[in-house]
Order: sequence, then C-alpha cells, then structure tokens
Amino acid sequence: MPIILAIESSCDETSASVCIDGIIASNVIATQSIHEKYGGVVPELASRAHVENIVPVVEQALEESGEWLVVNGKLGIGNLESGIGEQQNLNLKSQTLNFIDAIAFTQAPGLMGSLLVGTQFAKSLALALDKPLIGVHHMQAHVLANLIGDDKPNFPFLCLTVSGGHTQIVIAHTPTNLEIIGQTIDDAAGEAFDKTAKLLGLPYPGGPLIDKYAKLGNPLAFKFAEPQISELNFSFSGLKTSVLYFLQKQTVEFIQENLNDLCASIQHTICNTLIKKMKKAIAQTGIKEICLAGGVSANSGLRNAFESLGKELNCKTFIPQFEYCTDNAAMIAITGYYKYLASEFVDLSANPSARAEW
Ligand code: KG4
Ligand code: ZN
Repeated sequence: MPIILAIESSCDETSASVCIDGIIASNVIATQSIHEKYGGVVPELASRAHVENIVPVVEQALEESGEWLVVNGKLGIGNLESGIGEQQNLNLKSQTLNFIDAIAFTQAPGLMGSLLVGTQFAKSLALALDKPLIGVHHMQAHVLANLIGDDKPNFPFLCLTVSGGHTQIVIAHTPTNLEIIGQTIDDAAGEAFDKTAKLLGLPYPGGPLIDKYAKLGNPLAFKFAEPQISELNFSFSGLKTSVLYFLQKQTVEFIQENLNDLCASIQHTICNTLIKKMKKAIAQTGIKEICLAGGVSANSGLRNAFESLGKELNCKTFIPQFEYCTDNAAMIAITGYYKYLASEFVDLSANPSARAEW
C-alpha cells in the first residue's frame, strides 16, 4: 500500500499532496498572486515565492493527510491505524512523514528556477528519509489526473490536454505509456485565452475572465479566423493576430460595450478548434473513452462542448474535478503512485528540465 508525497512547482503554483494507495488524502495549493500586476508569470519572482511557500505547503499536506489517516484508520490500514491512532496527540506531520514510501516531484517541463526549488526539496527529503525518488512529467500528470477518484476511464483512452503551456491529444495506452498524436505548433490554448484577454484589457490570467463574460454573450456575434492545420495538430497564433487586427479598428467604448460578445466569440473559436480535432482523433483511433485535462478544461464552454461531443459520438467522457485541472500536486501524486507500481524511480543525481521532450 504505497504512500506517496508529491511536490509540484513547475510554474506559479506551489503544491504538495499525499496519495495513499491511489487515493488522494490531501492536495494543498498556494497560488502566487504577485504576478497579476505584471500581466504574466515573472520567472524570478515565481522561484522566490516557491522557496517561501514550499515548507508550509508540504507541512499542511502532511497534516491534512494525517487527519485523513486518523479518520479512515478503520479501513484496515494496518500499522498506520495503530501508529497514528494510539498517539493522536503527537504531531501529525512527523507521524505521517514516517509512513511515506516515496517522494514524487515534477521534473519537467516548466520554468527552470521554479522546477529547481521543487526538485531540490524533494531530493533533500528523499536523502534525509532514505526513501526513493520519482521524477514526474507534468503533462503525463495532467492526463493521469483523470485516474483520481472512483469513476476512471479504461485503457486505452484519449486525452485532450489543454493548459497554459501545452495543447496535446494523447493516447494513454497504460498509465506509463502515453503517445502524443497531435499538438500545437505555436501557442497553447491557454495562451490563446490569456493573450486575447490581454488585448481586451483584462488582467492576467485572462482565461477564467473570458469564461465569465462569455456566459453573458453571443458566441456567433463576431467571427475570428479558425486555423486550418493538418492532421491532429493545432495553431492558435493566428487567432491572436485576427483578434488584434479586429480590435485595432474599434474604439475603447465599442470594446467595453461588446465585451461579453467578444469573449463569447473568442471562446467559441478556441473550443470549436479543439473539439473538431478531438472528433478527428476519435474517428482515426476508434477509441471511445475520452478525457479532458489541464487548466483550460476548467472552461465552462469547453466542458459543455466536450460533453456534447461525447453524446454525439457515443463516447464516455471524463473531466477531472476543478482542483485537479489547474496545476496541482495531486496529479503528480497519482502519477507517482503508478510509477511506483511500475518501479520507475530516479536517483539523487536527477536534474529538472525545462523542456517538454524530457
Ligand atoms: O494547467 P494550468 O494550470 O497551467 C499550466 O500548466 O499551464 O493552466 C493554466 C491555464 C491559463 O492559461 C489559464 O488562463 C487557463 O488555464 N484557464 C482557463 C480557465 N481556467 C484556467 N482558460 C479558460 N477558461 C477557464 N475557466
Ligand atoms: Zn499544468
């Protein structure tokens, strides 16, 4: 019954989670608000904030999972039951730490300074506790967030991963064997949301705000260029240019008065592009279990379109809970759990990599 402590620090979220035999017992996320005033993530500020956040975040994750163990101690968790049950007054953090079997961390991709904080922390803890280390690919973790909870997809499944840094369609053959069958050749879907939001004068990150205003607007009010890219690949830089040229011809008053319609039309264009490629992927592979992943899967328009696609093509759809869609350590923990079962460990010489090819 492996117990995994996981750490995520690839971008601007410091997060820690404990996974007990495939069940998420805690998932603590500290979001860095310092970047809002700069209109995007400032790497140097992100790594400094990770240094400040990482100890309290890990401590809280250990404490919450300790409480989980106490509450669920009757589930036949063996030595955990007696270990914690008899000494409830003792510090839950250190109690829980004793039961950790391995430490998982995001090894790639991400901002180098941010990754370094999580990597060094995980390596130090592994050395001090003499426990194995598991290096996790952030994009694999977004996909495997779909394996959190009771209602899991069967393998092989298709996953559309849409985040601030990546847009991919993946076939998950097994938890540790993922095949990329389509991806963006320029901007990611999240970037398309954030960059067009910036053009509309909205603060960073603009994706959630576009979603909010789009709910009140007409998605067919304005027409923006939909990219025509071959195979299962995506391109979103043209949409940004198309919105820019359109807005340059408008007054500030026009943009303010039509903000809801503009957001709805931009969101419609992005979602349409994503759904069309997913449709093509289902037709090409014949796979009927389809998942969403990544921060953009929080988008209500995309969630609705994805559910409709499932109904239309008779596919079973899966979308992780909101807290497991944006960056979080629970997805690193569940991936760490499957990598532990597959004996995929790294040693203390492991280094982070900023590159997705890792
Ligand atoms: O996965 P994630 O948390 O971080 C990366 O690994 O990149 O994704 C962050 C992205 C941002 O671009 C953010 O604007 C977008 O997800 N996002 C949304 C929504 N919530 C988050 N985009 C559109 N609608 C949303 N509701
Ligand atoms: Zn992410």
